[in-house]
Amino acid sequence: MKDQTIELSQVMQEVKNARGLPNEHYTSQATFDLEKRKVLFANWSGIGFAKDVPNPGDVKPITFLGMPLLLVRSPEGEVKVFQNTCRHRGMILVDEPKNVKKVIRCPYHSWCYDLNGNLKTTPHVGGPGQNTHENICTEDLSLFTIRTFVWHDVVFVNIDGNAEPFDVINKELMERWKEFAQPAYHGGEKSSFKLTVKTNWKLAVENYCESYHLPWVHPGLNSYSRLEDHYHIEEPNLYSGQGTLVYQQLENKDGDNFPDFKELSEHWDKGAEYIAVYPNVLLGAHRDHLFGIVLEPLANDQTKEHIELYYAEDPKLSTERENLRAENAKLWKTVFEEDIFVVEGMQRGRHGEHFDGGRFSPAMDSPTHNFHHWVATQMTTDSSN
Ligand code: FES
Ligand SMILES: [Fe+2]
Repeated sequence: MKDQTIELSQVMQEVKNARGLPNEHYTSQATFDLEKRKVLFANWSGIGFAKDVPNPGDVKPITFLGMPLLLVRSPEGEVKVFQNTCRHRGMILVDEPKNVKKVIRCPYHSWCYDLNGNLKTTPHVGGPGQNTHENICTEDLSLFTIRTFVWHDVVFVNIDGNAEPFDVINKELMERWKEFAQPAYHGGEKSSFKLTVKTNWKLAVENYCESYHLPWVHPGLNSYSRLEDHYHIEEPNLYSGQGTLVYQQLENKDGDNFPDFKELSEHWDKGAEYIAVYPNVLLGAHRDHLFGIVLEPLANDQTKEHIELYYAEDPKLSTERENLRAENAKLWKTVFEEDIFVVEGMQRGRHGEHFDGGRFSPAMDSPTHNFHHWVATQMTTDSSN
């Protein structure tokens, strides 16, 4: 059997000497399970979007890598995530998105929790007509709260509870994009789409990080945003991606376009950036819209991409740009669909038993290597303490 530690140390070399992650990281169930613990549950993974629970009392169940979670909007307007499991006999609490007003009631024996997860009532727990029992201490039986941080509407969670705070780990990135720390509005129904792709979730990240493939995979995009108009974005052990210097705003036939986010610096006149927030969130920033992609790993060779677009203006107050928003979503969908054959092809390629992880072009692939290096670091870090 191959020694994974030796192989991962090769991944952690400088880009000019490094190999990519071994095939097992894309094809083996055992490695997928290990990555679930050491990469996805041990860090801040995206599980969904806060816009899906707009009103107090809204709840939405989300299963992430088998883990049942419940996204909740509290009466105070905060987004919370609980383990979606009743503290009594372990029943799933909520099966479908809905508004529960003030109470999450377990459908099995009607134990009730408030929207901060506190166990409030336990009917007949002490026998018929007795709603308390000395052995059932409600204070000890709150719902298990998952650490949560919302950034650009993406709901990030740290499932194992041991990661550094989100805004500590992502301090540089939040600083980089601090101009976008302002209201952004989801574009509505047509600004939301999903793609299910036969690939490992990491290949979607790896492909997103680089602009090298543009001329061949995105000829349309490349006609105005050429390879030489792009720059790499890479912060060792933090995040990576790519930027363009020639972003062009979409225009309708009357020359109307989307309004800009407020008070952006000159860089964003023609600049746009595409960054992978490790492990599984891909974000795009432009002067007039943002998008977020949450990669949901369904299996080692299957990933669901949840894509949502946001604007500087409220769609309810700008219905005249409804068609333009729909067109923008369609353009992005076309670009993301163009990527499918390569991420699926790389997945199939990883069944080639003689593949050795491949090589990185030091000139073109360093943002992708940055991600490999980070994954290998997570996999070799002892997170048991
Ligand atoms: S399992 Fe939830 S109340 Fe019994
Ligand atoms: Fe692409």
